Amino acid sequence: MASAEDYALAMNTQVPLPATVQFAPDYAIVTERLALRPFSRGDVDAVYSYRSREDVSEYLFDQPMTHEECAEAVRARAGQIAFSSEGDKIVLAVERRDDARLIGEVSLIWRSVSDLQGEIGYIFHPDAHGHGYASEASRALLAFGFEVMGLHRVYARCDALNGGSERVMQRLGMRKEAHFREHAQFKGRWDEELIYAILEGEWFAPATSR
Ligand SMILES: CC(C)(COP(=O)(O)OP(=O)(O)OC[C@H]1O[C@@H](n2cnc3c(N)ncnc32)[C@H](O)[C@@H]1OP(=O)(O)O)[C@@H](O)C(=O)NCCC(=O)NCCS
Repeated sequence: MASAEDYALAMNTQVPLPATVQFAPDYAIVTERLALRPFSRGDVDAVYSYRSREDVSEYLFDQPMTHEECAEAVRARAGQIAFSSEGDKIVLAVERRDDARLIGEVSLIWRSVSDLQGEIGYIFHPDAHGHGYASEASRALLAFGFEVMGLHRVYARCDALNGGSERVMQRLGMRKEAHFREHAQFKGRWDEELIYAILEGEWFAPATSR
């Protein structure tokens, strides 16, 4: 299994960040079983293997993506690695440390600078569902948001029919804040959206099951 030092060395070739950057993780972010790292050109096929699937996009705003759209997405994501101002987003490739396979992606958006708000998201290859990887990777982003960026509240949202996503939010220790009933049209039907959130005080509270 690749160690944290292996990942740190591999990241040495990374492009330097602009001076406007206020927060950027030290890549890779290494967890017990995973490494969260910037996307690079070689990731297109791996991204296509899950983003082209109907089942993966069922509850996403995006439709299944073509190989070309994945290549474009990877190009864009390769630059989404640091926060300079409100609205900035980091989107990171999630690699399994024991076989170096890219199994999904997680994101953190700086929603409000003055109010210290963030939003997380996650998308994983179905082969990698059911192992706790999405929760493990998202937890690392929450740690960065609360412990490095000093966020006060981080939220996540999902389609009310997306039970897998709702369970991730619950596993992360988030609380249900809202259930928006039929608030928008989504892929030919009324959308029902759940919002879950966790506050800084809850993140730092001792003895939780996260
Ligand atoms: C949402 C999504 C990421 C959830 O993936 P997931 O693998 O179910 O979520 P987790 O990483 O939290 O894994 C939890 C599951 O792994 C199991 N598990 C196995 N080993 C585990 C471990 N060591 N630690 C934690 N959980 C473990 C849990 O029991 C749980 O299974 P259950 O839900 O059947 O009870 C996935 O369904 C997905 O990518 N969907 C498509 C994209 C999408 O809809 N994204 C969300 C948009 S809002």
